[in-house]
Amino acid sequence: MPLRLNEVRMSAVKPSATLAMAAKAKALIKAGVPVMNLSAGEPDFPTPACIVEAARAAIGLRSSHAYTNPRGTDELIAAMQQKLSREQGVDYKDNEVIATVGTKGALMLALDALVGPGDEVVLFAPYWVTYADLVRLAGARPVVVSTDRERGYQPSMQEFEAALSPSTKLVVLNSPNNPTGAGWPESMLRAILERVRGTGIWVISDEIYEKLVYGDFKHVSPASFDDDARGRTLFVGGVAKAYAMTGWRVGVAAGPKLVIDALMTLQGQRTTCATAVAQVAAAYALREGPDVQAAVAEMRAAYTKRRALVLERARAIPGVKVHDPEGAFYVFLDVNERIPARRALPAGGGGSVIADDVVLANRLLEESNVATVMGSAFQGPGCLRVSYAASEDTLNQGFDRIAAFFASTTSA
Ligand SMILES: Cc1ncc(COP(=O)(O)O)c(C=O)c1O
Repeated sequence: MPLRLNEVRMSAVKPSATLAMAAKAKALIKAGVPVMNLSAGEPDFPTPACIVEAARAAIGLRSSHAYTNPRGTDELIAAMQQKLSREQGVDYKDNEVIATVGTKGALMLALDALVGPGDEVVLFAPYWVTYADLVRLAGARPVVVSTDRERGYQPSMQEFEAALSPSTKLVVLNSPNNPTGAGWPESMLRAILERVRGTGIWVISDEIYEKLVYGDFKHVSPASFDDDARGRTLFVGGVAKAYAMTGWRVGVAAGPKLVIDALMTLQGQRTTCATAVAQVAAAYALREGPDVQAAVAEMRAAYTKRRALVLERARAIPGVKVHDPEGAFYVFLDVNERIPARRALPAGGGGSVIADDVVLANRLLEESNVATVMGSAFQGPGCLRVSYAASEDTLNQGFDRIAAFFASTTSA
């Protein structure tokens, strides 16, 4: 008998395209190639020193060497509750919050707890690569509502309506969004929550980029709208992006006790708890004393500057269009005008003609040594995700190369 994997489960999931692109870029850098890496989905800043110090002080303690409650330490539970009350405007009881292994950990547990075979989950494209895979891994089916640049990546309510069926069990929201950076106005979020009012449809609101917002955009949490919204919404977020803590792996979920109890049971059997010392660091970050506030403000100021820079550089390239992102640290370059080949490619692949965004991202990396992520990975074909979690120098050099690449290729 040949040795086999669980092929049904493994066919539901693909390796993350963003991680793959970052790994390819890192391998080239290791080999000495001077790659401008604009593919990273993580801050280029170190974790603020005050947070690191809090963890350093805790690392020798017995409590940091032991399993914690699967929900998280008392200290972290309190910090999560204070944060959710202060920033989301929602008061959660002790048994309505849980600390997880990253935001991804919260999403994985939530999808397993909420959906299964026969269920449909509405996703708004372009979406973060992981959602669809986690839905399929849970045995459910993603139903995709497309959004586009012209409408600021907000869905039409008719298209949302058309995606709903008696099998719809869950809607996933992500504002501000990865990969587009689009933040939805409160009216859009309210319209969606209004449509599912009184139904058996859950809502997951992934608010990982809530603190990275620009201009006069105001982030709101759907759970804060009213009792119905609070009772069906699972807030997920974490410390990774705003506090530059991607590797610490601590996420937060908050919602009705029914769901949080299920997440606790699953987490207890799967990973037990988030790493004890990382929970100390996360609690320190979430309490947001003046030192943490200053560090977050400094990083946001840097992102604000870089955002302006990349928008200016992107708009200077003929045929490249871009939505002014309300949040996160991505711009989503719409390069459809520069991809004629989906219409007609000359025999032999077209030489300098760009076939699609996958070819484009690979050629940019291999020929011009600039790493981006193809929009297709996010169900946003004809686009490229550029991360500005990179220094201004890297961004400028990266855009010099992107501009030179486009100047040398055949346009539509
Ligand atoms: C929309 C979104 N949600 C969740 C995550 C994962 O966050 P964490 O590192 O806390 O698992 C990411 C990471 O890129 C993301 O972009």
